[in-house]
Amino acid sequence: MPEYVLGTDEQERIRLGLQHRLWSACAHQAWERAGLRPEWRVLDVGCGPGWASLDMAQIVGPAGSVFGVDESDRYVQWFNQAMSAAGLPWASAVPGDVHQIALAAAGEAPFDMGYVRWVLCFVQDPGTVVAQVAELLKPGGRLVIQDYFNYECMSLAPRREAFSRGIQAVAQSWRDRGGNPDVMGGMPALLRKAGLRIIHREVIQRFAHPHEQMWTWPTVFWKTFMPRLEEAGYLTAQQHQAFDQAWADATNDPDSFIHLPTVYELIAEKP
Ligand SMILES: C[S@@+](CC[C@H](N)C(=O)[O-])C[C@H]1O[C@@H](n2cnc3c(N)ncnc32)[C@H](O)[C@@H]1O
Repeated sequence: MPEYVLGTDEQERIRLGLQHRLWSACAHQAWERAGLRPEWRVLDVGCGPGWASLDMAQIVGPAGSVFGVDESDRYVQWFNQAMSAAGLPWASAVPGDVHQIALAAAGEAPFDMGYVRWVLCFVQDPGTVVAQVAELLKPGGRLVIQDYFNYECMSLAPRREAFSRGIQAVAQSWRDRGGNPDVMGGMPALLRKAGLRIIHREVIQRFAHPHEQMWTWPTVFWKTFMPRLEEAGYLTAQQHQAFDQAWADATNDPDSFIHLPTVYELIAEKP
């Protein structure tokens, strides 16, 4: 299997932490809508270093549990260290491919809730993942998904061509690794096929001005990911430089803003 497209180094671990902080209000709203409460057993699918799990573990408390699965050994190790340092031993993670999550999580099932955020857009077969998670849920259990549709709608206002070219390169690099920046477009059908019934749908559209906290979300992503894109040949050095310049110009223009990629949220229930 090709290496996960965003990488799993220390810089990316920190970026995921900032990303979770900036999006945590949306995550908490979704969990609340799904009914997350003390004593629940939660499966964090593609948990990364565990930023979301840390919050969920505090909500479910010692009578509940959070179980994470991620293909990155490094993230899983960090996850387990972080939970133990935070005094939350009821949260743990194991390494594994989410396409085989039924195997990795069988000993911990059944779950009251599955949570999967920004993972299905990177996997080769999201239908298999969703079907296996559905199997692991209790009757009445809920699956909460937050992911992209129309990722390439991300634009600077006023528009800047070098920026738009960079966004297309990002999306193409995901597609070439088997991912899909439009993954939520096919999700209702995959959930239906997995026997789950959608009980809530939401679209989260954010935008940010240069002086706002949310501006740092893309800023940090460009720093970590654009050099990788150039290295992999998706952008020439000149295109990369033009992209950085477009971003710097927008950052220095207090009237500019970014239309961020649209995040779709679906909550589905197992009958
Ligand atoms: C953008 S991060 C999101 C992490 C976490 N869900 C969050 O919202 O903070 C994507 C994660 O998916 C994991 N991942 C990608 N493909 C995977 C696969 N096939 N099996 C298991 N984990 C995978 C990566 O290792 C990474 O930790």
